[in-house]
Amino acid sequence: MTFMMKYICLIFCFFALGYMSVEAQAKTALINGSSFTDNEGKVINAHGGGFLKVGNYYYWIGENRKQGVFVSCYRSKDLMNWEFRGDLLTRQSHPELDSANIERPKVIYNSKTKQFVMWMHYEYGRDYSYARAAIATSGDIEKPFTFVKSFRPFGNMSRDCTLYKDDDGSAYFFSSARENYDMMLYKLTDDYTDVKTQIATLWPGGHREAPALVKRGKYYFLMTSGCTGWAPNQAMYAFSESISGPWSELKNIANSTTFDSQSTFILPLVGNKTTSYLYVGDRWDGKQYFKSGYIFLPLAFENDSTMTLSWRDTISINVKTGKMK
Ligand code: GAL
Repeated sequence: MTFMMKYICLIFCFFALGYMSVEAQAKTALINGSSFTDNEGKVINAHGGGFLKVGNYYYWIGENRKQGVFVSCYRSKDLMNWEFRGDLLTRQSHPELDSANIERPKVIYNSKTKQFVMWMHYEYGRDYSYARAAIATSGDIEKPFTFVKSFRPFGNMSRDCTLYKDDDGSAYFFSSARENYDMMLYKLTDDYTDVKTQIATLWPGGHREAPALVKRGKYYFLMTSGCTGWAPNQAMYAFSESISGPWSELKNIANSTTFDSQSTFILPLVGNKTTSYLYVGDRWDGKQYFKSGYIFLPLAFENDSTMTLSWRDTISINVKTGKMK
């Protein structure tokens, strides 16, 4: 071998080894309840978050809370290996965010305005008395969002919340109102930057929060938690053929602490073998917030309207087939 050939061989081996070690680091499963880490080994700060697919990527957008950052963005092709893509909303984004507290951000895409629209729970100062919703928008899901406003929809208090974009492009906002006694349902305006109508008050006096909605077959399923702050409690769900109701009675799901978690999102995963429904919950550590973990579990359906959730220590997701184990 000439010196040049040895040199080329060496360079080739160097890159091959480098590639293999990156491959070897790729996660093939997630450990439920732990603080998941990104591809740089850093803890993922995306609590109370939501998910959406854009192109080949799943985006995970949630609460960051570190160093004046409110909302951060991660992406993944397989839902297990996540790459940090940037901060979408910080204390500096707008004067109204100066002393704010932002929780449960959710993002949907408006194909008419070509904007990503974020709705979230907005508080000002230390307590939860502002009880407002807030909105921000961006033309690029990975770039900083522009804060639009904070407000009380139709004058109602608004705390834990979620956003849902239906198949026909209509979008809805669910949020806990009246000191969390009522779950309100609003339809959004066509550009998704305001509420258009107040559709329903779900389970008045039911004291539900942490809403997460999914549609499967002919039913919508809404999962919620009780109201015990950072402490976990029994999750419940209801189903309905129409988003505006009538909704069924609430039924228990999972165990009495929802496996020590609180719902934040349900992500449908359409594969070539099956469609799965991924429950995403936060395992809060209220005292040491950054030690909070995540729970990814597949929801199961005993029949068209009966949803169940069982514990598993780890989860492995195959986005191609849609199978989770
Ligand atoms: C929970 C709520 C969280 C956070 C927490 C504060 O009930 O779901 O998002 O607001 O209370 O105590």
